[in-house]
Amino acid sequence: MSPQHPEGHVFYRKMWHSFPRITHGEGITLIDDQGRRYLDAAGGAIVVNIGIGVEEIAAAIAEQARLVAYVHAEKFTTPVLEAYADALAEVIPLPDVRFFPLTTGSEANEAAIKLARQIQIVRGQRSRHLVIGRWGSYHGMTLGTLAVGGRASARNPYLPMMYDMPHIPAPTCYRCPLGKQYPECAIACADALEEAVAEYGADQIAAFIAEPVSGAALAATVPPAEYWPRIRDICDRHGILLIADEVMCGFGRTGKWCAFEHFGVAPDILTMGKGLAGGVFPLSMMAARGHLVEELYHAGQDIGHGGTFSHHPVGAAAGLATLRYIQKHDLVSAAAHKGRRLGELLRAKLSGLPGVGDVRGIGLMQGVEFVMDKTARTPFPADLNIANRVFAACRDRGVMLYPGRGTADGIRGDVVMAGPPAVITEEEIAIVAHTLKEVVEQVVAPLLHDSVGQ
Ligand SMILES: Cc1ncc(COP(=O)(O)O)c(C=O)c1O
Repeated sequence: MSPQHPEGHVFYRKMWHSFPRITHGEGITLIDDQGRRYLDAAGGAIVVNIGIGVEEIAAAIAEQARLVAYVHAEKFTTPVLEAYADALAEVIPLPDVRFFPLTTGSEANEAAIKLARQIQIVRGQRSRHLVIGRWGSYHGMTLGTLAVGGRASARNPYLPMMYDMPHIPAPTCYRCPLGKQYPECAIACADALEEAVAEYGADQIAAFIAEPVSGAALAATVPPAEYWPRIRDICDRHGILLIADEVMCGFGRTGKWCAFEHFGVAPDILTMGKGLAGGVFPLSMMAARGHLVEELYHAGQDIGHGGTFSHHPVGAAAGLATLRYIQKHDLVSAAAHKGRRLGELLRAKLSGLPGVGDVRGIGLMQGVEFVMDKTARTPFPADLNIANRVFAACRDRGVMLYPGRGTADGIRGDVVMAGPPAVITEEEIAIVAHTLKEVVEQVVAPLLHDSVGQ
């Protein structure tokens, strides 16, 4: 596919890119106006979880749109919203949980950061204004979420415009930012939070935000088991609120409703998005332990965050129908066992190949990292653009993946992620693994020889 100059009135997200025109889909396959089929093993941006064009979701949305599509959330509530929150409370294990629905993951994280600050103020801790983030994280596209995020390419142009926040290293054992090895490291990357608290002062810190399982920027990096309990303990000892960003890894994708459940700790504030409504409606959620919301209430305050489309009735209908569909078809268990199968197959087919450094992940979040030298874990030069080449070669073979860059030093380090819907079949899992193997052999391996020969 050769890039063409985009025509017409759409301001596209990519200038040098030809966009296939998708007209419909079936199962997990998208179909364009030329009849070409794309097996979407990334569920778009790791969004679609129950498949495409599910009749009962479409019916639930249509029904709510007919009854009442919109009310202003400062003035009304709706039965569908209350039913959705009750249903969510059955599966999201935060004590006395309360849900604040928004539309994008960025907004949910922005809301979480603001709520943390507001809680510290009502506790009489007005000096607590910093939110510590981690390098290699992504929390959204707004200036507030970029400030706590740790993805250099997304942040750098806007640094002079933002109130930058402190960052600690991420728990990336394949490329330990502290140059250590697990388990001898004794999880020094978690202790980095303690060091940051000492450096900035606990009385300045409102919250810590991180993804329990890292998303696109680190391609499905799973921290060691001891990491999250240590982080929880540090936050508790210093009065710091813990925000878990589960916009990508949440809502069943890792084989549990919440990714934090794998680690035996729960955050104070949780954010979700993407798979909440399976992509049929832009829906995100900030969830908080009930006592935090009560603290605001008893201080006579409302939350200082809103938005025209918060608490949207059609969003609630879409979310409720998606949740019920996941329960009815046991898709959280499906994500666990299909993810295990996908991970096994990717490791079996790819791990031994030149150019593949690491295959990792949990549930239906699997990542492959490409390297020039497997022993030294040397990343490819950034200008070879390996992740995008792999993505494009897979797309040309009819399989969609999710590329990412910067795992090594913010710029170099190429990865692709597979994050298919939980309705993926055994046969489709095999196609994904086979296609990636073929692309590594036909596209990555020759580049390896070229780069070595340079
Ligand atoms: C972990 C994580 N947080 C937040 C976001 C931002 O979500 P949105 O793009 O819906 O604003 C993303 C998006 O990819 C994400 O992966």
